[in-house]
This record gives sequence, C-alpha cells and structure tokens, in this order.
Amino acid sequence: MPARPIAARFSSRSLSTQSLKDAIKETIPAKQEQLKRIKAQHAGTTIGEVKVENVIGGMRGLKAMLWDSSVLDPEEGIRFHGLSIPDCQKQLPAAPGGKEMIAESMLWLLLTGKVPSEAQTRALSRDFVERGTLPAHVEKLIDSLPATLHPMTQLGMGVAALNHDSLFQASYEKGIKKSEYWEATLEDCLNLISRLPALAARIYRNVYNPGKPMESLDKDLDLVGNYVRLLGFGDNQSLTEYLRLYIALHGDHEGGNASAHTAHLVGSTLSDPYLSYSAALFALAGPLHGLANQEVLRWQMAMQKEIGSDVTHDRIKEYLWKTLKSGQVVPGYGHGVLRNPDPRFIALQEFCDSKPELQDSPIIQLVKKTYEVAPGVLKEHGKTKNPYPNVDATSGCVLYHYGLTQFKYYTVIFGVSRALGCITQLVWARALGLPLERPKSLSLDAIEKLAKST
Ligand SMILES: CC(C)(COP(=O)(O)OP(=O)(O)OC[C@H]1O[C@@H](n2cnc3c(N)ncnc32)[C@H](O)[C@@H]1OP(=O)(O)O)[C@@H](O)C(=O)NCCC(=O)NCCS
Repeated sequence: MPARPIAARFSSRSLSTQSLKDAIKETIPAKQEQLKRIKAQHAGTTIGEVKVENVIGGMRGLKAMLWDSSVLDPEEGIRFHGLSIPDCQKQLPAAPGGKEMIAESMLWLLLTGKVPSEAQTRALSRDFVERGTLPAHVEKLIDSLPATLHPMTQLGMGVAALNHDSLFQASYEKGIKKSEYWEATLEDCLNLISRLPALAARIYRNVYNPGKPMESLDKDLDLVGNYVRLLGFGDNQSLTEYLRLYIALHGDHEGGNASAHTAHLVGSTLSDPYLSYSAALFALAGPLHGLANQEVLRWQMAMQKEIGSDVTHDRIKEYLWKTLKSGQVVPGYGHGVLRNPDPRFIALQEFCDSKPELQDSPIIQLVKKTYEVAPGVLKEHGKTKNPYPNVDATSGCVLYHYGLTQFKYYTVIFGVSRALGCITQLVWARALGLPLERPKSLSLDAIEKLAKST
C-alpha cells in the first residue's frame, strides 16, 4: 500500500488533538513576535557574567538557555507559566472521580500557557488512549532484553526504537518547510507520551512478573490511570491518585537540569523527539539526578533496619552523620538550584498527611522524622548549599507503602513524568526556530590565560 501523503497524515488527527494543536497555533505568533523583539532590541544586552567558577563548576547559575514553560526560583521553587504547584493543584482539571491534577492538564498548561477546560482534558485523555498501543517491533525488542538489564536502560532503548515511526523524520526527508517542523514534532511528541505507559508497564511486567498477562488500555481512563492499570495496580485508587499528582508536578523543572537540557541539546540537532527524549532518559538514569529516588528508599530502609523501633531524633542524627562521615551524600537532600524545601516535596507530604494509611506507615513516618533533623545536620556538616529535602526525599517511600516495592523501577516513573516538560520544549524549539546549541569550550590552559589577562 502506498504511504499516505504527509499532509493527509496531519489532517486525519482527531478533534481533540486538533484543539490542542489549535491552542498552540494561536499562541505561536505572539511568542515569535516576542522573540523577534528581544533579538532586535536586546541581542547585545548583557544579562549576566561568566566567571571561571561557572565554567569549571558545572555551569551552575549561568543564564544561558531559553526554556519558556517553567521558571525555577531558588527560594520559592517552580512555577509553570507563572502558576505555582498549589495554584496548579487548585486550577488544573483532575481525572473523573479524582482530586489530583493529571498529566493531560499539566501538559496542556505547559504547551499552551493556559489552563484547559474539563472537556479539553478529557479529549486529550481519549486521544492518548487512541495513540497508546506499542508497535509490535518495540514489544519484541523489549521482550528480548534480559530481565537483569536496568529498567531505565530498557526504557531509553524502547523510546529510541519508537523513532521507527517518526513523522518528523519522514517529513524532514521529504523536505517540509521549517515553519511546519513544529506540527510534525507535536505529532511525534503526542505519540511518544501516549506510548510511554504501555512501554514502561511492559518493562515492569517483564522484569518483575514475567509471563503475567497484561491488561489492555481502558478508553475511559487518563494517561496515568491507564499506566497504573497496566502496572497491575488499577484497583488501588490511592496509588493512582498519588501517581497522577507525582507525574504532573514532576513533569517540568525548567531547562537546566540534566535530562531537560539533554533533550533540548539533542533536539537542537533536529534529531526527532524519540531520539531526543531517549538521550534525556539516559541522563535521568544517573544517581545525582533521577536515580536519587531509588537511592532514598534504599537509604531510609537501611536506616530503619539499623535503628529498629527506637525511632528518635538522636538515632536518626547518628545515622545521618554515619552516612556523611562515610563520604556519601544524603539522598533526597540538596539541589542544584533550590535553596529551600522543595514545594514538590511539600505537596507530596501533604498528600501523605491526607491519607490515614500513609500517616500510619513506618517508612513514611521515618521520612517525616528525618526531615525534622536532616537540615540541621547538613547545615552543621557545612558542605551543601541547600540542606533541605527535594522531591525525591519522599516519592519512592509512598510507592513502597502501596506495594510498588521494586526500587530500581522508580526512575522509570520519573521518566514517564519528565516527558511532559521535555516534549513541550521540543515543540516550542521548532515553533520558535531555535538554533543548534553549540557553546564554546576552553582548555585548562586557555582558561588560565584568559583569567590572567582580564
Ligand atoms: C542534587 C545535588 C546533586 C546538587 O549538587 P550541587 O549543585 O553540586 O550541590 P552543592 O553546590 O550544594 O554541593 C556542594 C557540596 O555539598 C555536597 N552535598 C550536596 N548535597 C549533599 C547531600 N545531600 N549530602 C551530602 N553532601 C551534599 C556536594 O557533594 C558538594 O560536595 P563537594 O564540594 O565535596 O563536591 C546534591 O545536592 C546531591 O548529591 N544530593 C543528593 C542526591 C539527590 O537527592 N539528587 C536528586 C536531586 S533532585
């Protein structure tokens, strides 16, 4: 059968997508105009300085990247198009029968800068289900991998293999105009996010429950509702609501973090969204970034084992010092930008406080007690610039309580979440025609010479 022309493939999209696409389309001219104005009026304006410490210190604090969907204030935390996490919790539509904001409403906000209606949110959920089945070649690839291969490696491989059907790549080869790149990118991005639950759940099944039959997608469920169903926990409403909240609030954290930056960098070469996000997932797999949530639980459980039922502030302090004196970091504490408790941590703690079963959970109680003493210990230790908890300090412990006990899988859930922000940037980078990213590097000799001469 001859391949359908690209224009036909664009026009056959469902109404729901069309309305998301229309909402983005409506926003593009004003943003393009703003970028043009900034270029014309301020291209030569200095908005910061580059110190040697920035160059040799992992580029901390360097204002060197355009990322429009969220801004991270060191004191206040993240805002998505100006909305804080509590604002989003109040304004973004939940799933039918649920209370927590969901991935669909957060994605709509990130992509368009606007809060979607209930109807727009539901339409996006239905569209995700329609697109959400994995291609056979990806199922085959994932099923062929050894169960001992880390789930994050499997996720990155599966996402990369989805690029077999990339509309952007096919359209680019056919020579579409630069002004149309964003539309093909959006199609790939929506297909990518829709297929993540089936991919991530298949990895979970293969690694932890080999041979167990998998549920199929339910057309009446949202993205995360379906993800939890495919994982085999569909009858646990509390876990479903927790994951809805976690995946929505963890979806974007401005552009400089390693996974977001990687997606943007790779995307800037005009690699398609699958390859760009696959690269981002491998950045997420590092213990200083996404892998921290598996490390937190491992560490809290080792603490629990050592101190037993004598859970006092003094015993926790002792354990914290033991960790620090052995040269390890305290997982779940500190942040590259934040200088206060992470509002994502606070939102997850509030979720725990609202559920009696979580209030009674020994591991959740330990997380809370650790929070009461860890900042003091870390301040006394004197190294970290931020002695407060980040989102990972609590996330894995809640999953554990609800029976999702496989630590190594936790970063995969983060990987499903972070797609929201990364795909938003990929679409907007194409809509704004952002260039190939290519900073200038310097050798040690060149840094020294330059520093001496200024
Ligand atoms: C997140 C993190 C990587 C940020 O790193 P950063 O930007 O370099 O942080 P800082 O500038 O505060 O680091 C300064 C020093 O404090 C140390 N430090 C930072 N966080 C620490 C922690 N939680 N426990 C102990 N030491 C810590 C750093 O290792 C560094 O030590 P060094 O000078 O010997 O290399 C770091 O805080 C960390 O490793 N935290 C634990 C892992 C984690 O929770 N990651 C998830 C982040 S969302």
